[in-house]
Amino acid sequence: MSIFINKIKNTARSYFVGSEQKFMFEKVKSIDFPTVKNVGLYIQIPFCKDLCPYCPYNRIKYDKKLAKEFLKAILVEIEKYNKLFGRLDVSSVYIGGGTPTNLIDELGVILESVRHKFSVHGNICIETTPSDIDKSVVDKMKEYGISQVSIGVQSFQDKFLKAIGRKYEAGKLPSVIDMVLSADFDSVNTDLMFALPGQEIEDVIFDLKKAVDLKLEHITTYPLFTFPYSSVGKYLKIKKLRMPNVKVRRRMYKTIHDYFLGNGFKRVSVWAFKKGDLPRYSSVTRDYYIGLGAGAASCLPGIFYFNTFSVAEYINSLTKGKLPIAIKMNIEKSLARYYWLYWRLYDTYIPKVKLMELFDCNDMKFLFLLKTGKIFKLFEENKENIYLTERGSFWVHLMQNYYFLDYVNKVWSIAMKNPWPERIKI
Ligand SMILES: C[S@@+](CC[C@H](N)C(=O)[O-])C[C@H]1O[C@@H](n2cnc3c(N)ncnc32)[C@H](O)[C@@H]1O
Ligand code: SF4
Repeated sequence: MSIFINKIKNTARSYFVGSEQKFMFEKVKSIDFPTVKNVGLYIQIPFCKDLCPYCPYNRIKYDKKLAKEFLKAILVEIEKYNKLFGRLDVSSVYIGGGTPTNLIDELGVILESVRHKFSVHGNICIETTPSDIDKSVVDKMKEYGISQVSIGVQSFQDKFLKAIGRKYEAGKLPSVIDMVLSADFDSVNTDLMFALPGQEIEDVIFDLKKAVDLKLEHITTYPLFTFPYSSVGKYLKIKKLRMPNVKVRRRMYKTIHDYFLGNGFKRVSVWAFKKGDLPRYSSVTRDYYIGLGAGAASCLPGIFYFNTFSVAEYINSLTKGKLPIAIKMNIEKSLARYYWLYWRLYDTYIPKVKLMELFDCNDMKFLFLLKTGKIFKLFEENKENIYLTERGSFWVHLMQNYYFLDYVNKVWSIAMKNPWPERIKI
C-alpha cells in the first residue's frame, strides 16, 4: 500500500514541479545568502520541561546550564546575521519550540538583542504551554512587547491529556486561559488536538464548547499526526489505545468546521478559526524568514537552509564563530510557486492576481488542477479569490499527511540522528 502511495506521490510531484527540481537537502559547504530586505525571524527554543511522546519537534529536556550556553550562542547568531545583512527590516518575530517560556528570562535578553540589531516593526508571537503560565510569566511576556500568544491546551479532559502524556490537569486550564486573556495581548490562540486515541465526536464537541465558553476567540485544531520517529506509536501500543480511522477523522473535521461557523467564528486556515477583530495568529505563512536556534529553518529567495538539530553542535559552532547551518536545498522557480500555492491552500484562499502573476495562465497542468478541484467541489471562487471549501480543507489535511509531513518526517528524523548529514533525499 505504501509503495503504491509513494508511486502516486512521486508521479504527481514530477508532473507539477518538474523532474528537473532536485528534492535533495545537501551538506552546506559554502553559505551564500540572496539579497533580502524584509524578512520574518523565527526563533526556535528547543527545550521542554516535559517531553510529550507524540511530539515531532526538535526539543530536548530543559537543562539550566545548557539553556545558559544556548543563550550565549543565539546572541552570537543574531550578531552574525546583523553583520551579513545589516539592520534588516523584520516584519514579524515568531518564537516557537519546544516551549519558549521555559527560557522566559533569557527571552528578554534575546529580544533586546534582536531589537538592537534589526528593525522590528511587526508582531511578536510566542508559543507556550499551560504548565508554564503564571502571573510572572505573563507579566514578562507583556514587558518584552510580545503581542500574540498561543497556548497548547490540547484538550479540556483529563482522560485525553493523560492518553497523550500531558502533565497538567484540565482543572487548571480555565484560570490559566483567563490570566492570559486578561493581559490584553493583541491575539491569544489556543491549540486543541483531535483524532486522539479513544476520542469520540462528543468528546471533540465537549472541548470546542469549553473553549468557546472560556471566551477564546482564536482556536487551532490539529488532528494527532503520528510521526514514525516520535514514540507515540510505541506509547499507544503500550496503552492499548485505539486511534480514530480516516472516516471518523473526516466526520470530526466537519463537526469542528460546522461548530465554529455556527458559533460566529470564521475559518482562517485549514486548522484555525477566529471570531471578531483580533489579528490572525499564524506560525507558518511568512514569505521569507531567517531561522535562529537549533533546528531552525530559513526560507530565502531560491534557497532553504536548516541549522543543525543538535543543541550541543549548535552551541559548539557558534562558540567557534561559525553559523550552525547544516543542510540546504535549492528551490527552483517551479517548486517556489507550488510551495507558495501550498501555503495559500493552507490559508484556504488564493488571491487571483498573485496567482496569475506566478503561474502562466496557460499552464495546462495548473488549469487541470484548478478544474478538477472545482468539479469535485474542493474550490469555489469570486472575483478576487479562489476559496477552499470545507471538503477542500479536509483534502488539504490529507495532502499534508501524505506529502508535507512525510517530507518533514524524513528530514527531521535524519537531522535529529545526525547533526551534519551529507545528503537527505526526499
Ligand atoms: C511546538 S508545540 C508548542 C506548544 C507547547 N510546546 C505545547 O506543547 O503546549 C505546537 C503545537 O503543535 C501541536 N502538535 C504537536 N505535536 C503534534 C502532533 N503529533 N500532531 C498534531 N499536532 C501536534 C500541538 O497542538 C502544539 O500545541
Ligand atoms: S508538544 Fe510541546 S511541550 Fe510537548 S514535547 Fe512537544 S514542544 Fe514540548
